[in-house]
Amino acid sequence: MEKNLADITQCLSKELSSFENLFKDCFHSGNALLDSVLSYTSSLKGKRIRPILTFLTAEIFGKITERTFRSAVIIELLHTASLLHDDVIDNSRKRRNNSTVNALFGDRIAILAGDFLYGKALAAINTKEDFMLMDVFSKIAMLLPQGEVQETDVTNSRDLSEESYVNVIYNKTASLISAAVECGASTCMNPNVDINQLAEFGKNIGMAFQIKDDILDYDFADTVGKGTGNDIREKKITLPFIYCLQTLNEDKRNSALDLFFKDNKTDGEVQHLIRLVQDSGAVERTDKIQKDYSCKALKAVDNMPLNDYSVCLRELVQYLIIRNK
Ligand code: IPE
Ligand code: IPE
Ligand code: MG
Ligand code: MG
Repeated sequence: MEKNLADITQCLSKELSSFENLFKDCFHSGNALLDSVLSYTSSLKGKRIRPILTFLTAEIFGKITERTFRSAVIIELLHTASLLHDDVIDNSRKRRNNSTVNALFGDRIAILAGDFLYGKALAAINTKEDFMLMDVFSKIAMLLPQGEVQETDVTNSRDLSEESYVNVIYNKTASLISAAVECGASTCMNPNVDINQLAEFGKNIGMAFQIKDDILDYDFADTVGKGTGNDIREKKITLPFIYCLQTLNEDKRNSALDLFFKDNKTDGEVQHLIRLVQDSGAVERTDKIQKDYSCKALKAVDNMPLNDYSVCLRELVQYLIIRNK
């Protein structure tokens, strides 16, 4: 039987449960409206991929310390804040199998709740002990919005290059996953650990992860719990669409582009574009690129010390490649 994420991360169950308590404590403000938004947000739990990566890296190369816990909380707060903002930007109605905060409380409140969580992340930093990580956190806080802005630029300029796509997904997603790994490496009390190499490993996981996310959006079935076809609705140019266009003759390509960039597409039009991409073989080609990144990540795991945690890390990377959640 296929293992789920809880089975895979069994060796971290104690740490993850302590993490949950620390993380939950950040979702209070003292303002009644904001507290109801925060309580709703924290009630819908994510997969916790980033803290899991922080803990696993720390335990493979050294040991989990208080600083590891703190950095895991900070990274997950940045992630949660970026999702609140992202759902406003993407006008998304569904996340984690439930309504988004913007759908329930409106865009303004969702943006402010995201800002509040960015503030909580700043407040969680221990300035004396975490100064080595300040660079990592500030870089992320700048890259995530930059990635989102670049993505909008790509849509506005109808930029269909693979290079721009790769750039966007590094900034908006892989940079944070890379930072999660870097935090584990920097806080595990091992002065000999190669932090740059591990950051590169995290980047490869992050790239594979976002490419998989973009493939899942071109599915008819919503296995992830945030709807599908969202990228088409919002004119987000991702690799499956880029590759699909490359298979079409000029006429078909122009009509696919016209439909893709049309405002307020009907469900039928969205489904037509999903089918076009599926039938073109673009998903398989995108899958290959995703596998290239995952293979690099798996090779890096091969070179890590062999213990329960690196076995778990290997399973996690494999889970992320084949995930449908
Ligand atoms: C969603 O990330 C945003 C992307 C980078 C695709 P996750 O899939 O890790 O989100 P949750 O936290 O598990 O909901
Ligand atoms: C993922 O953005 C990265 C961030 C949230 C910054 P997407 O828009 O591609 O992710 P989903 O599909 O909404 O989770
Ligand atoms: Mg989105
Ligand atoms: Mg987005």
